Parts: sequence; C-alpha cells; structure tokens
Amino acid sequence: MQTTKLLTASLATAVLLTAFVPDTLIKTAFKQAEQQAQLMLSDVALAATKPAGNKPALVSPRTLDKSGDLQLVPARDWTSGFFPGELWYLFEYTDKPEWKKQAQLLTAKLENEKMNAGTHDMGFKIYCSYGNGYRLTRDPAYRDVLIQAARTLTKRFKPAAGIIRSWDHHKEVWQCPVIIDNMMNLELLFAATRLTGDSTFYRIAFTHARTTMKNHYRPDYSSYHVVDYDTLTGKVLKKNTHQGFSDESAWARGQAWGLYGYTLCYRETKDPQFLKQAEAIAHFMLNHPHMPADLVPYYDFDAPGIPNEPRDVSAAAVMASALYELSTYKSDSPYRAKADHIITSLAKQYASPVGKNHGFLLLHSTGAKTTEIDMPLIYADYYYLEALLRSKKLNEKKSLF
Ligand code: GLY
Repeated sequence: MQTTKLLTASLATAVLLTAFVPDTLIKTAFKQAEQQAQLMLSDVALAATKPAGNKPALVSPRTLDKSGDLQLVPARDWTSGFFPGELWYLFEYTDKPEWKKQAQLLTAKLENEKMNAGTHDMGFKIYCSYGNGYRLTRDPAYRDVLIQAARTLTKRFKPAAGIIRSWDHHKEVWQCPVIIDNMMNLELLFAATRLTGDSTFYRIAFTHARTTMKNHYRPDYSSYHVVDYDTLTGKVLKKNTHQGFSDESAWARGQAWGLYGYTLCYRETKDPQFLKQAEAIAHFMLNHPHMPADLVPYYDFDAPGIPNEPRDVSAAAVMASALYELSTYKSDSPYRAKADHIITSLAKQYASPVGKNHGFLLLHSTGAKTTEIDMPLIYADYYYLEALLRSKKLNEKKSLF
C-alpha cells in the first residue's frame, strides 16, 4: 500500500515536471481558432462588399467598434498583417490546403505596402504575413516582397541618432519619435540580410537595438514608450508616452514588445548583451508587484486604479511567445513555465465563445489608455497562436524556427 502511494506520488511529480501546456489544450485552442477564423473570413468578405468610395480598400480585421461591429483596416494600417499571419499559423498547425489558400489571398492584398516608406510598421505588416508565408512555402515571390520591404524600411534610418524613425504623425510634438514597438520591425531586417547576404540591414537593426537599449530603458529595465531624437545631433529631446498611463509609467505592451524584440535580437546576433537585456525585461515584468496571478497584465503596470484597471491580453500573448523563445536560450529558467501559465490563463479565461465576436479568439485587450479599451485585438490572436505553436514545438522537442 505504502509502496503504491509512493509510486503514485512520484509519478505525479514526474507528470508535474514534464506536463507543459497539454497537447489537448493546444488541439482544442486550434480547433476553436479554425471555427473562429471561418467566421471572421465570412464577416471580412461581407464587410468588403460595402462600397469604399474614394477611400482605400478595407482588407484586414483589427477590432470591434463600440456597437460590436467588425472594424476593418486598409493595408497601410499597422495591424493589417496579423490576420493573414493568423491564417498562416492555421495552415502550419493543420496542414490543410484551404488555410494556405486563404492565407495567400489575404497576404496578397498587402503587397503595395512594400513601397510605403511613410511608417516603421513594415515588420508588423509584411513579416507577419509575407514572412510566415515565405517560411512555410519558400515562394520566391514572397522573398522578393520581403527584400523590397526591408529596403524601404531602411530609408527611415537616421545615422546621426542611430535609430529608425517610427512615426511621421504628430510633427508638432516630436521631431523624430522612436517607439519601443519598433524593436519588432528588426526581424524583417535581419531576415533581409540572410536572404540577400547584404549586411546593411543587419547593421541598421543592430544599431537601432543598441541605441534603444541606451535611451528607452530605465535603471529598473522598464521602458519608455516614445523617445524623441534630434536627427542632426542624435541628442535625445524628450521621453514620453502615447498609449500608456503617463510618461514615467510602464505601458504593458511596450514592455512586451521590448522583451520579444531583444529576444529576437539575441536569436539573430548571438550577442550576449541582448540576452541580458531580454532577461532583465522578463524579470521586471514577471516580478512586478502589479502583475496579476494569472500573468495577464493591466494595460499599464503603473495604472493608478489597479486592480480596477483594464487588462491587456495582447501584452500577455506577446510576452508568452517571447518567453517560449527565451526559454530555449536559458536552461533551468522559469520562462517556459511562465509562458505555459499565461497560455493556460488565456485559453481558459480569456477566449471568446465560439461563434461570437466576429471570429476574434481572445477578449480583454487594450490598445491604449483612451481607445480600444477591453476589446478583442487581432494582434493578441496572432501572438496567441504563435505562442501555442511554440509550446507544441517545445513539447515535441523541435526547433522553434
Ligand atoms: N503600435 C503598436 C502598438 O500599439 O502596440
């Protein structure tokens, strides 16, 4: 009897030690994602039948509006690449040709963006769509789009300051604003060097990451949202927020972008300074006294009304995906267990009921302090699927890339 008990206890411990996000949870989440994506595709097609007039065509879903209707965006919006990316992830998981076809159709609508030098959001738009498409199909036409998009993005590099300019709007407020989100666009540049052998892209990405490390981060490894530069002298003019609670606060998604960004910089360069940075950011986020037990942050770690402040599920999804990758660079670290914890929370407590919310997968994201509060957001869904795929690959002891 005693032996049986001991055996059961040690088996339970072994299961606990090896039980990551169970395959059944991943399978259910993808089954629901397929059903939701079907719904979203038909709602996107319906919305696209409305005449656009002189306005650019609306091609991708972003969120819901106040009356609960699907809000679509034109290709130039920073979020246009996420739904095509979601379709690529469905294809990757299921291997069903119908998902590949839909992914190809929606990806194709973004091609003109490869020439749009008016924004830094090239990586979000083109790498999530064409980047995943190229990874999964090796279609040379996708490769060409990636290279052209990277070339266009390099036009925004300001050598004196050592950064890629983020926004062109709000010229009355900032001379040359750089937002922490811009770290995410570096993935496209690193890929372009791999695809072409031209190290220019790599050097720009490396310089941007180094400058951002120096000027965006506080001693506690929290990040400012916006840093404004003088493009002639390279001097920092201001440090602000645009979407967070205040200039000195830690906007949650910005922290998650930084975590993901420095993790990918380490993947691409193997420079230990980037791994150290990613770990320090993870430490700041995971140990913050305002981090809730389910590891889904409030929209800002310093929002004054915590615990009565909106959560940001998108920050949690980005964080989970980044932590899975970070766990592969650090054995004996808590990162994988923490990512598992986040993914389990999202799947169990934040998923939309199937057939509702125009096909969004997750509820309770927050775009900014004053807009898109407690809404579904397409990028939360994209990074959730990416994290689920990473979890599956780790369970199967496969490489993430
Ligand atoms: N621009 C990216 C974000 O809102 O997080």
